Amino acid sequence: MDKHIADIWSSVKGHYTKRDSMYMEFLDKMLPEFNGGRILEIGPGTGEFAKMIIKNYNVEKYRVLDLEKNISDSVNYIKKENLGITLDYTFSQNYKDLFDEEFDLIVSNICIPETPKEYREDLLNNIIPNTKMSMIIGQLNGDWDDGSYEPWIRKLFTDNFGEVSSELTPYLNCYSLTGIKK
Ligand SMILES: C[S@@+](CC[C@H](N)C(=O)[O-])C[C@H]1O[C@@H](n2cnc3c(N)ncnc32)[C@H](O)[C@@H]1O
Repeated sequence: MDKHIADIWSSVKGHYTKRDSMYMEFLDKMLPEFNGGRILEIGPGTGEFAKMIIKNYNVEKYRVLDLEKNISDSVNYIKKENLGITLDYTFSQNYKDLFDEEFDLIVSNICIPETPKEYREDLLNNIIPNTKMSMIIGQLNGDWDDGSYEPWIRKLFTDNFGEVSSELTPYLNCYSLTGIKK
């Protein structure tokens, strides 16, 4: 897994991007129907994007999925902010626990392409059918990829959502891919 992180993000200092305001602009623009509810964020990093969502929308439940070694960064940050919500969390090795959960939004910024192929395919193939909307920001292809990532993720979105869009973001050739169930 470290190999994938190094390959994709070698030019980026530090691990977290601090582009949360930009992600929020894409969420507002591409998923204007989003109004809160039950949310899953994969790879939340600092927890800043989670905080913005919790503050700006009517959030019922917010769950983060991250590596056990990093998850306290977001969980501790949200706890400290006293946002009046219990943050639920899942360690990445327990990702199959999420297969039976329903979400209003699954969001993930600069994480999915850096995870191992078997993990990301098993995870998203099983949770995307159970969400009303999704926004995944990340590269769609690159040296890290064997060429299968973009066709797989686009098909997953078109198979599960009535409305699918993708737009280039200003960050490192990353696209925002969104889907809305119709
Ligand atoms: C490049 S950081 C991006 C963090 C944040 N979303 C941002 O944009 O600043 C990647 C995030 O994905 C997490 N991550 C890496 N592998 C993961 C996995 N297999 N499952 C869930 N999260 C993972 C990392 O711990 C980190 O929080």
